[in-house]
Amino acid sequence: MNAGLEYGIPGRRLGGKVALVTGASRGIGRAIALRLAREGAFTVIHYRREEAAAQALVEEIEGASGAAWAIQADLGTMAGIERLVRELEEGLLGRLGSIGLDILINNAGIASQGTLGATTEAAFDEVFAVNVKAPFFLLQALVPRLRDGGRIINLSSLVTRMAYPPEAA
Ligand SMILES: NC(=O)c1ccc[n+]([C@@H]2O[C@H](COP(=O)([O-])OP(=O)(O)OC[C@H]3O[C@@H](n4cnc5c(N)ncnc54)[C@H](OP(=O)(O)O)[C@@H]3O)[C@@H](O)[C@H]2O)c1
Repeated sequence: MNAGLEYGIPGRRLGGKVALVTGASRGIGRAIALRLAREGAFTVIHYRREEAAAQALVEEIEGASGAAWAIQADLGTMAGIERLVRELEEGLLGRLGSIGLDILINNAGIASQGTLGATTEAAFDEVFAVNVKAPFFLLQALVPRLRDGGRIINLSSLVTRMAYPPEAA
């Protein structure tokens, strides 16, 4: 993290704001995190497996005078959700002296694979753990930390409203 930029980039639209983006190692989450950091937010990059990609994103943000750090957690388990919350709070306290959060982007998610007949219980449980349970319990843990004017954005999918046979769950 760049010293002296504890709250992102002062003077930018989101300077002084703290953002957490889940699943920011790649895809849509990465793009959201990059944009938030460019707008001045101190951006927390959450990832599950792609540590190198998450660290590369932190370096890219810091290279552009932004501020970010990365946290690993598997959001398919309650232990992983708790780990993310614990590391977020410890990291924010250590770096910024406050556990306040301004922006939570629940982006991490997986696509279910399989038709109605082919979906196993394990596959069903994994989709609901990552896509439904994790955002819910992250909200439960982090809403009390959200500062006035804060924002929560939950990414979803068209397949939650429209039947798509190859992704039945
Ligand atoms: N792309 C689309 O066309 C589309 C369409 C509809 C909805 N969406 C939604 O938009 C969001 C982003 O989609 P995307 O296509 O950008 O996704 P993606 O490229 O597949 O990336 C998924 C992200 O979620 C993380 N993730 C996956 N499983 C996880 C777990 N068990 N615990 C913690 N993190 C986990 C991944 O972390 P690691 O890589 O570090 O493992 C990765 O950072 C998702 O919620 C998705 O459902 C996307």
